[in-house]
Amino acid sequence: MPHLSEDVISRARALVALYPKPRSALIPICHLAQEQDGWLRPEAIEEIADIVGVTPAEVLGTASFYDLLHTEPVGKYVISLCTNVACMLSGAYELLEHSEKTLKIRAGGTTSDGMFTLEEAECIADCNNAPCIQVNGRYFGKLSKSDFDKLVEDLRNGNLDDVVPPHGTLCRIRRAVGLEAVNGTAARPAQRSRRGRKK
Ligand code: FES
Repeated sequence: MPHLSEDVISRARALVALYPKPRSALIPICHLAQEQDGWLRPEAIEEIADIVGVTPAEVLGTASFYDLLHTEPVGKYVISLCTNVACMLSGAYELLEHSEKTLKIRAGGTTSDGMFTLEEAECIADCNNAPCIQVNGRYFGKLSKSDFDKLVEDLRNGNLDDVVPPHGTLCRIRRAVGLEAVNGTAARPAQRSRRGRKK
C-alpha cells in the first residue's frame, strides 16, 4: 500500500503533466509530501522518486539542499528565528537565547512533545519588523521576550490554529489554474500581438 495518500499521488501526477520533464515537478511534489507528513519521510522519498523517474538519492540530495524541505522529523511548529544583521542589531541573539530557555532546547532541536522545532535563520525579508521570526512560514515581528513566550503559549493552546497551520502547509487554498490547464478545461492564455495587445 502506498505511503502517499491517493490525493497526494493524483496531485503529484497532475504536477508532472505540467512540465516537459517529470523531474521538474520534484520540488512541488516534495512540498505535497511534506504537507501530508510534516517532513519528508523515507517512504515518501521512495515514492516521489518513482513518480518523477529519478533515484531516491536524487530526491534526498535535492530536498536536503533547501531549508524549506525537512528530511528529518520536525515539530508541528517550526520556529525560524532570524539572526541576520537587522535582527541581530535589534536583539535577535538575546531572543534566541531566551527562546532556547523557554522551549528547553538548543537551536536545531525539537521539543520532546513534538510541538516545536527551533532553528536559527538567515534574513527572512522582514527586516522592518526586527527582531522577527517565522512559524511555519507565517511572520511575527518586533518580538520581545514576553511576546515570544505568549506566542508559544498561544500556539500550544491552539489559539492560533486559524493563523498558523501545521508544518508543511504552504497554503490552505488550492490554486486550480495549472491543474485545470492539464485537463484541457482551462482556456489557453490569449496570444499577445507585437504591441502587447490581446488578440
Ligand atoms: S535581518 Fe532579520 S529579517 Fe532581515
